Amino acid sequence: MEPIDSLGRPLRDLRISVTDRCNFRCTYCMPKEVFGRDYAFLPRDQVLSFEEIERAARVFVAAGVEKLRITGGEPLVRRDLPRLIALLAALRTTDGRPLDLTLTTNGAALRGLARPLAEAGLGRVTVSLDSLDDDIFGAMNGIDFPVSRVLDGIAAALEEGLTPLKVNMVVRRGINEASIVPMARWARDIGVTLRFIEYMDVGHSNGWRLDEVVPAQELIDTITAAWPAEPMEARYRGEVAGRWRYADGAGEFGIISSVTVPFCRDCTRARLSADGKLYTCLFATEGRDLREVLRDGSTDDELRAFVAETWGARDDRYSELRTLSTRDDRPDLPRIEMFAMGG
Ligand code: GTP
Ligand code: 5AD
Ligand code: SF4
Ligand code: SF4
Repeated sequence: MEPIDSLGRPLRDLRISVTDRCNFRCTYCMPKEVFGRDYAFLPRDQVLSFEEIERAARVFVAAGVEKLRITGGEPLVRRDLPRLIALLAALRTTDGRPLDLTLTTNGAALRGLARPLAEAGLGRVTVSLDSLDDDIFGAMNGIDFPVSRVLDGIAAALEEGLTPLKVNMVVRRGINEASIVPMARWARDIGVTLRFIEYMDVGHSNGWRLDEVVPAQELIDTITAAWPAEPMEARYRGEVAGRWRYADGAGEFGIISSVTVPFCRDCTRARLSADGKLYTCLFATEGRDLREVLRDGSTDDELRAFVAETWGARDDRYSELRTLSTRDDRPDLPRIEMFAMGG
C-alpha cells in the first residue's frame, strides 16, 4: 500500500543526507562565522550506517519512492560513498524499474569520484555553482575555492556519463546577479541544464532577507532578453524547477521559485537527515526519529508502518502559507539548517 498524505500527495522522492559536514562554507548555507573550527558536527555513532540507509531506502521504495537523491552537507566527503551507491543501485521500484539515483554536490571532489560513482550505478549528478568569476564564487563558497576545479569536476562527471547533468545556481541580489548571463551562456555552450534558485529562508544562520531574493520573473526576463525562450511542460508531477526551452535549440534552463511561486501542492518529497530524522518538509521544525526505529529491533513491517503513518499525517505546505501571509509577518519559528536536512 502506497501512503498518501493528508493533502492527497503520494511519496515519490527521498532525499538522503549522508553527512552534515562540508568542505565549503557558503555564506547562504554554512557561514564560516557560525560554522567555525569548533562547531560540533554529528559524532559518528549518530550518523546512519550505509546498511541502515539501504534498509530505510528499501522501505521507502516499497512505499512508492522512485527517486533517491543523495545530499549532505557535501555527500562526497562521506568516506566510501560508492559503496552506498552500489547498495542503492540494486533497489527496484514497486513495478520493477531501476530508481532515478542521483546526487547533489559542490563538485570539488568529482574529478576523483565520478568514475567510481558511475561504476557503482549512480545515474546522474547535480552540481552547485554560483558564478564563473573567482572573486564572486570564492566569496560565496567562503573558502576561496576556485571555479576551475568545479568545472573540472563537471567535466569528469560528463566524461563518465553522469547525465543529464544539472547545475544549481543560487542567486543573491547584489552578490552574483552579474553572473546570471555568463553562467547561462556557459551552460548553453557545454550542454548542461542550469537552474537558478531563489535564495531561500532556510535555517537561521544566513540572515536571510526578502530584498536579497531575485524573483523568478526577473531571472526569466534577464535570460530571455539575451536568448528567447518558452516555458515547457513539467517532466513529472511536482517537479521543483520550472523549465524553459531556448528558442534556438540550445537546450533548456530551469527556475526554482520556492519563494515567489511556491510549489507545495505537488510536493512528493521526504527527507532523511544524516542522523536519521525523517522530515516531510524542507522547512519542518521537527523530524521523526527513524534511526530509533532502525536500531531498536523493529521489523521491516514496523518500519514500513512508521513511514506510512508519518506520511499519512503530513500536511506541510510551508512555502504556500508563507506566500499567503503578508511578507513581513512570517512566523519566526526555529528552522532546521539546510545542510543538516540535505537541501
Ligand atoms: P531533479 O530531479 O533534477 O529535478 O532535481 P530536484 O530539483 O528534485 O533536486 P535538487 O537537489 O537539484 O533541488 C534543487 C533545489 O531546489 C534544492 O537544493 C533546494 O534548494 C530546492 N528544493 C528542492 N526541493 C525543494 C522543496 O521541496 N521545497 C523547496 N522549497 N525547495 C526545494
Ligand atoms: N537558498 C537557496 N538554495 C540554497 N542552497 C543551499 N542553501 C540555500 C538557500 N539558502 C542550495 C545549494 C545547492 C542545493 C543543495 O541547495 O546551492 O545547490
Ligand atoms: Fe556545502 Fe552545499 Fe552548504 Fe555550500 S550549499 S556550504 S557546498 S552544503
Ligand atoms: Fe514541499 Fe515544504 Fe517545499 Fe512546500 S515548502 S514544496 S511542502 S518541502
